[in-house]
Amino acid sequence: MELKVVHSNRVALDCRDIATELGWSSEDVFTAEALGLLHDVGRYSQYAEFETFVDHDSVNHGLHGYNILIKHEVLKQADPLDEAVILDGVKLHNTRNLPSAMPVDNIRFLKLIRDADKLDIIKVFRETIQDGRHADMPEIMLNIDLTGQPTRELIKEILETGSGTYRHVHSLADINLLRVAWSYTINYLPSLKRLIERNHLNDTIQSLPDDEEITLIVSRVKAYIEKRLAEGV
Ligand SMILES: [Fe+2]
Repeated sequence: MELKVVHSNRVALDCRDIATELGWSSEDVFTAEALGLLHDVGRYSQYAEFETFVDHDSVNHGLHGYNILIKHEVLKQADPLDEAVILDGVKLHNTRNLPSAMPVDNIRFLKLIRDADKLDIIKVFRETIQDGRHADMPEIMLNIDLTGQPTRELIKEILETGSGTYRHVHSLADINLLRVAWSYTINYLPSLKRLIERNHLNDTIQSLPDDEEITLIVSRVKAYIEKRLAEGV
């Protein structure tokens, strides 16, 4: 529970800072920070009720959080447009794909929360492994095999589509591979820069096993990032 409080605070700060760097208005920066604080509001009762953070064993925590905010009228006093942005952001921050039709502003904030969330998930994951606390946190580690080989289906999926799904994740190497492929999903340049500056990407890459196809994935990801940095988008 405490991990989620700390996570939400850090995500809120990143939302604020990235929104500021993107040149958003001070009102939007404030809304972005609120979205960061609230994005995982569904986690607390999810854990209290089901004793797990694994959505497919309990509830979709994004949708659950959305329902909690509505039920308890948390945003009752907010501007209706801000309320809509935050509700959509909470509900959809953890979905695999973004919906095709949404108000422009909602998409703008949704992209931000998904970036900031990923930055902190990678950080928490790395620190958990480095500190050797993974055994204490099976929920965070998704009950994976820490020493297992990368899954060929996952490698194939990433090579073919640019992203991987959790159904092919069975080992620590798989999670790290999935995190590397997350680079393709980072929406805003200030977020991508943070991913690099904080060494999240390099550290994760260095932890991957020596494998020809993994090397190919890594080189494609690096080329993608270099292109975005060069183009400034
Ligand atoms: Fe979440």
